[in-house]
Amino acid sequence: MTQHYDSATPKFPHMLHGGDYNPEQWLKYPEILEKDVELLKKANINCVSLGIFSWANLEPSKDHFTFEWLDKIIDRLYENGIYTVLATPSGSRPQWLAEEYPEVLRVSEGGQRFLYGNRHNHCLTSPAYRERVRIIDTKLAERYANHPAVILWHISNEFSGDCHCELCQQAFREWVKDKYKTLDDLNHAWWSHFWSHTYTSWDQVHSPGYMGETSVHGLDLEWKRFVNHQTIDFMKEEIKAVKSVNPDIPATANLMGIYFEGLDYFEMAKELDVVSWDSYPEWHKPNENEIIARNDSLAHDMMRSTKKKPFLLMECTPSTTNWRSISKLKKPGMHCLAAINAIAHGADSIQYFQLRQSRGSAEKFHSAVISHTGTENTRVFREVTEVGELLPKLESEVYSTLTPAKVALVVDVQNKWAIDKSLGPRNQYIDYYGLIQKCYNYFWKNGICVDIVNCDSELDGYSLVIAPMLYMFRGNISDKLRSFVADGGTLVTTVFSGVVDDTDLCFLGEATKEKLSDVLGMWVEEMDSLYDEDENATDFNGKEYKLYELCELLHPTTCEVLSTYKKDFYKGLPTITRNKFEKGTAYHLAATGEGELYDDLFKMIADEAGVRAPLSSVPKGVSLTVRGDLYFLQNFDEEERTVSLDNKFSDLLSGESVEGDVVIPALSARVLKPCEKQ
Ligand code: GLA
Ligand code: ZN
Repeated sequence: MTQHYDSATPKFPHMLHGGDYNPEQWLKYPEILEKDVELLKKANINCVSLGIFSWANLEPSKDHFTFEWLDKIIDRLYENGIYTVLATPSGSRPQWLAEEYPEVLRVSEGGQRFLYGNRHNHCLTSPAYRERVRIIDTKLAERYANHPAVILWHISNEFSGDCHCELCQQAFREWVKDKYKTLDDLNHAWWSHFWSHTYTSWDQVHSPGYMGETSVHGLDLEWKRFVNHQTIDFMKEEIKAVKSVNPDIPATANLMGIYFEGLDYFEMAKELDVVSWDSYPEWHKPNENEIIARNDSLAHDMMRSTKKKPFLLMECTPSTTNWRSISKLKKPGMHCLAAINAIAHGADSIQYFQLRQSRGSAEKFHSAVISHTGTENTRVFREVTEVGELLPKLESEVYSTLTPAKVALVVDVQNKWAIDKSLGPRNQYIDYYGLIQKCYNYFWKNGICVDIVNCDSELDGYSLVIAPMLYMFRGNISDKLRSFVADGGTLVTTVFSGVVDDTDLCFLGEATKEKLSDVLGMWVEEMDSLYDEDENATDFNGKEYKLYELCELLHPTTCEVLSTYKKDFYKGLPTITRNKFEKGTAYHLAATGEGELYDDLFKMIADEAGVRAPLSSVPKGVSLTVRGDLYFLQNFDEEERTVSLDNKFSDLLSGESVEGDVVIPALSARVLKPCEKQ
């Protein structure tokens, strides 16, 4: 079953192949700008992202606008069949703006105002900043929103960070007051009678920070929620400014995947027409390429899931980054393989940072489609060109479509904020994302589509919901999980789940509904933390698995015990439980285990829940992803691998038909279409 969507860019409803282009750096080199057009066409580039950091060239001094250079670039590219994704320039401000309005400069949590420099560091509360952004955005929209080349708004760039200035403090106080209404409710929710930190006036509410409050966990959570709110509010004002001129050009913002923890992207996505993101995996770490591919796929899945729609891959590097501790080249084939992986997981574009390599300053060694050589005679240029040739083939099969997922994985950034601040079981590190990756692995490898959901998501339509380490039961998630199981769904929870509410207050009582004790058929009495060099173990289905990090000591009430601890004073207590609850089933995994435990357990649970893998097995190094009718078999290893097919397929890339054992060369993919529907 395939779901069809409207195109993300209705004016140009095609797979985009493009990237960030910064002609403002090259205005003194007209011959280079001219040559770029020719080279971009050769590389099968069909769109460019313009204006992301152009503010100083668009408004060199206050209210003095110079759009002529941009007119020329947009027109010239358009004459050559290249469309424009137009950015608002608010990701980096001109010097004059900071000079005239110092309030736009952020203040650190220690109360110190930063000097001018860098980017992504504006006070998003500042009325002066908002007003100057509104003016430049409106001017841009008035000039270009009806230009035939402009297909999409790219709002700002990679929103992130917080500001602790007085304007932000005041806005935070208002926000907190609006939420809690009375100081009595605030003091209870934040448990602030602890250490006598009771708030007796709203004016005492101040952002957390190393110079001040760090012990009120409710305050910490609300500050993060406020920063999220304020950032989204700022972004909404930008969208309003550009859409007031032409509401028909969709808007996106470039997000940073699943591992960026500063914002709740599920909230942000609600305000965007299409989600896009910037993916920079560290390919080719020795023996880790498959894991890296899995972790990047998880991020693609999350980006797709925030709107449950195809997304755009707004940035990836044609070869290397320049900002990691080691910037390794993408080996031959890797770029194409990573691009195919993005498409397989729901991307409708492959876009780059950057199209032309910058000559100086911070990003001069970041790779680009056109390198400092300025020619097409490079390996990277050829590989980019190849991706451009591939996209139309994939477009005809999967553009603007998705395969609905039967499995949902709960990944809630607010939960992560709370775990990080939990101050208790393992302050040195709790590997939340590591656990999520282990839970995702079996499905990723075997071609079972997984949606990422958070506590606010609806769970209708899923057969299996996995909620790893959902420490904070936020909103009505426990009611939703209960109804999901009652209606016949299968739920899996793990160690350190259902411990606190929205404001980080611990649930009281032994076996309670709030903690889902009825659904799980058990309650947790204690949780042991293991030193890094410690381990426990459990036997399950005749195999022994290692356990690490956290081990719960639980009391079964109605659940079945599937396995037990092998060591320590809690030897014999349950490690894996299963409980029948009304029409459904709930599993609980009481400890953190090695990867294989999750692979084996989820194979069993998925089979039981009727979620079947399309192929009987997928070899090491290879992953299968299904989008629409297509099977994407991808080999992330540097050795060729053989996959056994149970049916006849045609290879979309080579045109040949294949069946039985099929070879996937190192660092490459086969995109297969079943000859008959299976
Ligand atoms: C981010 C930014 C880009 C560029 C790249 C470099 O994704 O959005 O402007 O700095 O990183 O990898
Ligand atoms: Zn501020």
